[in-house]
Amino acid sequence: MTLGGQAADLGGKVLKVGSDTTYPPMETVDETTGEIVGFDVDVVDAICEKINCRAQFVTTAWDGIFAALVQGEFDMVASGVSITEERDKIVDFTDPYLVMSQSIMVRVDDENVTLDDVKAGMKLGAQTGTTNAQLAESLVGRANMNVYDTGAAAILALSNGDIDGVVVDGVSATAYEQEFAGELVPAINGLESDPLGLVFPEGSELVDAFNEGLAEIKADGTLDALINEYFGK
Ligand code: ARG
Repeated sequence: MTLGGQAADLGGKVLKVGSDTTYPPMETVDETTGEIVGFDVDVVDAICEKINCRAQFVTTAWDGIFAALVQGEFDMVASGVSITEERDKIVDFTDPYLVMSQSIMVRVDDENVTLDDVKAGMKLGAQTGTTNAQLAESLVGRANMNVYDTGAAAILALSNGDIDGVVVDGVSATAYEQEFAGELVPAINGLESDPLGLVFPEGSELVDAFNEGLAEIKADGTLDALINEYFGK
């Protein structure tokens, strides 16, 4: 940081941001405008306002998103990504911009299930390659779970009755509960807690700039206002 706590200045640089935009309310494609919208978009835009850059979100598949980043397809990834030790070996993360815990969504008929019921033989689903899939596997074992290309596909499989529960990030549970009102509910909350970070290729000089911008939007209340707008707390 320079004197006076001023954040970095990227000189109006346009940054390509890879994102799996099938993930409400973090990132989705607005059906009418075709625009990519969501909490992550607003967070990155707010940081860019502080450090003078412009974010251009690009939809990409979750599977392979980190490989694509490492190969230089994007400058960064913003996709509700949990900071994990394993990923930290191949990419760089900013400080956390949100900490949330995971939930299990079920059909309303099962809304009273407990974690013991889940472990005793419920079939779980989750998006492939996520911390949600890791948690599902640790709860019921690989043989009792299905993985899907997108979180939305897992939710659809739950609604179709192919599986009995879906492990999702708590931030998405609320969005899915609204979308499938009266049909699906988050029955179990407060599981594994994950800090979310923005992701860069290893050694990218953008990490420091984004950490400075993030510190500014934390300090001036912008981030809290966004959290309140999207998650109501
Ligand atoms: N937070 C979880 C993870 O990093 C799931 C993120 C999925 N994000 C997405 N845009 N589909 O593993």
